[in-house]
Amino acid sequence: MQDRAVPESSLGTLAEAPELSPRPTRTVVVVDFGSQYTQLIARRVRELSVYSQIVPWDAAWEEVERLQPGAIILSGGPSSVHDEGAPTLPPWVLESGLPVLAICYGLQLISHHLGGSVEPSRSREYGPSVLTVRSSSPLFKGLSGDLPVWMSHGDSVSRPPEGFELLGSTPTARYSAVRRGNLYGLQFHPEVAHTPSGKRILANFLFEVAGLEPDWTPGHFVSEAVERIRDEVGDGRVLCALSGGVDSSVAAALIHRAIGDRLVCVFVNNGLLRKGEAEQVVGVFRDQQHLNLRYVDASAEFLRALAGITDPEEKRRRIGETFVRIFEAEAEKLGRIELLAQGTLYPDVIESATRESRAAAKIKTHHNVGGLPERMRFRKLVEPLRLLFKDEVRRVGEELGLPDELVHRHPFPGPGLAVRILGEVNEHSLRIVRECDAIVREEISAAGLYRDVWQAFAVLTPLRTVGVMGDGRTYGQVVAVRVVTSEDAMTATWARLPYEVMDRIGSRVVNEVPEVTRVVYDVTSKPPGTIEWE
Ligand code: XMP
Repeated sequence: MQDRAVPESSLGTLAEAPELSPRPTRTVVVVDFGSQYTQLIARRVRELSVYSQIVPWDAAWEEVERLQPGAIILSGGPSSVHDEGAPTLPPWVLESGLPVLAICYGLQLISHHLGGSVEPSRSREYGPSVLTVRSSSPLFKGLSGDLPVWMSHGDSVSRPPEGFELLGSTPTARYSAVRRGNLYGLQFHPEVAHTPSGKRILANFLFEVAGLEPDWTPGHFVSEAVERIRDEVGDGRVLCALSGGVDSSVAAALIHRAIGDRLVCVFVNNGLLRKGEAEQVVGVFRDQQHLNLRYVDASAEFLRALAGITDPEEKRRRIGETFVRIFEAEAEKLGRIELLAQGTLYPDVIESATRESRAAAKIKTHHNVGGLPERMRFRKLVEPLRLLFKDEVRRVGEELGLPDELVHRHPFPGPGLAVRILGEVNEHSLRIVRECDAIVREEISAAGLYRDVWQAFAVLTPLRTVGVMGDGRTYGQVVAVRVVTSEDAMTATWARLPYEVMDRIGSRVVNEVPEVTRVVYDVTSKPPGTIEWE
């Protein structure tokens, strides 16, 4: 650990930070067999305030033992136990004597290993089903009768190994829940939201079967991450492109807590930000959190690059290119920095191989910093949030003492207001859309809806319509208001705003922004629409 290397004077909020929390007593070890849901299992366990960590299926016991395991969960996976080279059951799972919850492939593997039969189902089953609970057990404590569950499997257990008791069946998989002592197997997926009693089942496993304590908090994540960052960074320096968005903000605050002023943040004002945003970011990070922050006002350069451009993809390309050039120039001034910090979240890496963590560090550019320069050749990436989901990142941000307005800020695209102006981006169009956007957000907040919606913003269209104000005819632009609800931006629904809120937005925009004569509300969901208009 390199904490001694942090100069006293650079500690900033570190000095006021609460004591680092001691590590929770026991870890739930999630053995990864390649399921898309492995992280979700770990996340569900964390939601129940129990520390969990994922290990690859071929991890050695020494690696697992260090985690002080209190229980083991076997994930699902895409293989069949009959496939050549399919992942096998690590010997320590049964030898450890720890309580085990084996999900889907995990169950098939245990059954196969202990002499039961696993056969291909007549048809691959993917979707909702109903589990009939047949026998009481600590795992189903408080649950009985028929439970909706989510299935996703090709094979299933046709004959369980000796000594296994049947706990529950679905119409297509008789052995959907089985038990032998403290070893439980489920053919369905308790970790997905489509299994409504899944959380209860997992809680029963942790507290009723394994007797664990709910003693893990975001504070623990912070202390663990701080230690890990110190180990990773050694006495090096880290560069972070701070956008003011939630992810890069939380990543920067976390890394700063670990290494103080050896984190250098560069915040580029591209002139495409929301009203008051640049001031807020500088205020929070430089003045309150005492980060080593370089503020670069490059708005003129971005505007020059965007002059005369109306095509959305060309706008994005030029903004990305300008950002890279400016960032490189700043990095140059700072001298050699070998590590690059990014606020990459788990959904950003979900498509990568689940065992990526095992693979050698791959240095890749990532879309969330607008395509950082590949040619900059950082030795290593520091991505302290890569195992977390957005809401967990927000909890970590709160734990780090970042202000609510920042932690709960709506997502904002890298190309900023440029993709909310249909047509040319210039000072005039930016001023209009920025004012309208501020009104939309203010009214949504005033109605207490800010945290209920995913995004709320204004889009400036090039359309002009006739209006009347006082005794005169007006001829001005049309602004569209877009408010959506969403879980993850993959799909979104237009928000059913109360009429009074729409009314206040409409009248304030036309009254306060003289260039606008008409306000329309976007009632397109995603799909088929996207959230942004460009
Ligand atoms: P769409 O418009 O594709 O947006 O439904 C999904 C989410 O991504 C944001 N978005 C972007 N973010 N660079 C970004 O960093 C972009 O070019 C970009 N385009 C869209 C959008 O705001 C929404 O949250």
